[in-house]
Amino acid sequence: MSSELSTIIDFIRFGASRFGAAGLTFGHSYDNALDEATQLVLHALHLPHDLNPTFGQARLTSEEKLDVLQLFERRIEERIPACYLTGEAWFAGLSFLSDPRALVPRSPIAELIEAGYEPWLGGREVHRVLDLCTGSGCIGIATAVYQPNWQVDLVDLSEDALALANENIARFQMDERVQAIQSDLFAALDGQRYELIVSNPPYVTHDEVAALPEEYAYEPELGLRAGDDGLDLALRILRDAPNYLSDNGLLICEVGESERALVQLLPEVPFAWVEFKVGQMGIFVVERGDLVAHAATIKALADARG
Ligand SMILES: C[S@@+](CC[C@H](N)C(=O)[O-])C[C@H]1O[C@@H](n2cnc3c(N)ncnc32)[C@H](O)[C@@H]1O
Repeated sequence: MSSELSTIIDFIRFGASRFGAAGLTFGHSYDNALDEATQLVLHALHLPHDLNPTFGQARLTSEEKLDVLQLFERRIEERIPACYLTGEAWFAGLSFLSDPRALVPRSPIAELIEAGYEPWLGGREVHRVLDLCTGSGCIGIATAVYQPNWQVDLVDLSEDALALANENIARFQMDERVQAIQSDLFAALDGQRYELIVSNPPYVTHDEVAALPEEYAYEPELGLRAGDDGLDLALRILRDAPNYLSDNGLLICEVGESERALVQLLPEVPFAWVEFKVGQMGIFVVERGDLVAHAATIKALADARG
């Protein structure tokens, strides 16, 4: 069969067809079969992701064909997300190390980072940023790369995630401006103040976790699960963020599909829901002052979660 396939383009096309036929899920960084097949072929051939398309006609050796087909096989049979097979994920135009110690980077917050968090910052001066629930470190590190004058703290509860985040800090040579801290949300951040807190916390409901495609089982459950309505972590963040934000600081937080539940719980809080190129993605922006104004209601809801 592989003798019928010859060029890079042949293998990308073949992989995409096999992935489609196998009914794979594309929720991890790449959103379609062709992009995943391209990523796996280029990885197996040790070629750059921005390979000039003229090389698409280049032919593979027998050994290379085997390497590519083995990767395709693992993607199909074991349902391992492509980024865990290659060890690399692209986020905000940057290449991060990615493995099962943390979620595959895929947050739409990348678009905000690339836009310098404007118009949301509204020209606020920023010195210190907190990436809460950092996982691989992608949001905080990308923020630091795009904003050379900002100091960024990365927080996660998971030692594994922090180990990966530290490897990514080293990969981008950011150790002077980015530090990784182990903490249960804000618990280890006493006395710290940030002009901007960005967070992509776990927000998947128990029911949704149970129904997730096989690919998600490779990701740490601590990064996904967040109670019956997906808001266990988000409510704690809303309750405690004012203590760690500067006076006119801003909280940006992703809650995905749990947006509806949050709006139902807190209809009076003026969350601004970000419009992305592809539409709304469950990411809100809220000012510290508005959290303080509704502190009692938020606290009652968060405390009830234990
Ligand atoms: C949805 S993942 C997001 C990772 C990363 N920010 C990203 O966008 O790829 C959520 C992260 O929150 C971390 N986490 C879960 N509970 C936490 C807690 N109580 N305190 C700090 N981090 C927590 C998980 O370990 C996981 O890395």
